[in-house]
Amino acid sequence: MIIAVDGPAASGKGSLAKRLSAHYHLPHLDTGLLYRAVGQRLLLEGRSLTDTEAAISIAQSFVPEWLNHPNLRSREAGKAATAVAIIPGVRKALKDFQIAFTRNPNGAVIDGRDIGTVIAPHAHVKLWVTADPHIRANRRYRELVAKGQDVSEADILSDLAARDANDAPNMIMADDAFIVDTSPMSLEQAFARVVEICENRKPNQTQPH
Ligand code: C5P
Repeated sequence: MIIAVDGPAASGKGSLAKRLSAHYHLPHLDTGLLYRAVGQRLLLEGRSLTDTEAAISIAQSFVPEWLNHPNLRSREAGKAATAVAIIPGVRKALKDFQIAFTRNPNGAVIDGRDIGTVIAPHAHVKLWVTADPHIRANRRYRELVAKGQDVSEADILSDLAARDANDAPNMIMADDAFIVDTSPMSLEQAFARVVEICENRKPNQTQPH
């Protein structure tokens, strides 16, 4: 079973994807990390985030080992990811790696922005996980405060709005995606809902086309 989990930043898609991967014993790829790795390397090489040629050449030399870098989830890497993700040559260079991941014989859980449309349009389950921007900002705020970071909720809200605007061209909901608005839900409730959707869409229960 291939499960595509798309949606905006801080919608809860990452946590749901991780739990789905454990529940169904399927490998999980967080594709945001690929863009973060490319953006971070651009910074490490001392390049500007607008250096399109350098970003494409870094993306073309991407190796999975880069995903183990400890700072990939930092705010700085997130901003760099957003900058390189709008470059078509970068998206193209990272595409094959993502497609190869979906070819695992038992399937995969893969989360991002364009998985159900560009990377795995054949996925058995396509989830579009979303939430009200204020709720997303509040969740992210509490997460960062719990990690001891000194942040303001208003700054996080404006960061998210900027990321949404920047990501919009590549954040594409598939026509056959199930929308899961996690605004009124706890993680437990959202997980129960996505498992219910997956159970109904399991390959052996899918009607032949
Ligand atoms: O999901 P995450 O916040 O880690 O993603 C970081 C950035 O990478 C996003 O803001 C987006 O610009 C980009 N991204 C993307 N397509 C994906 C995954 C992430 O454009 N499939």
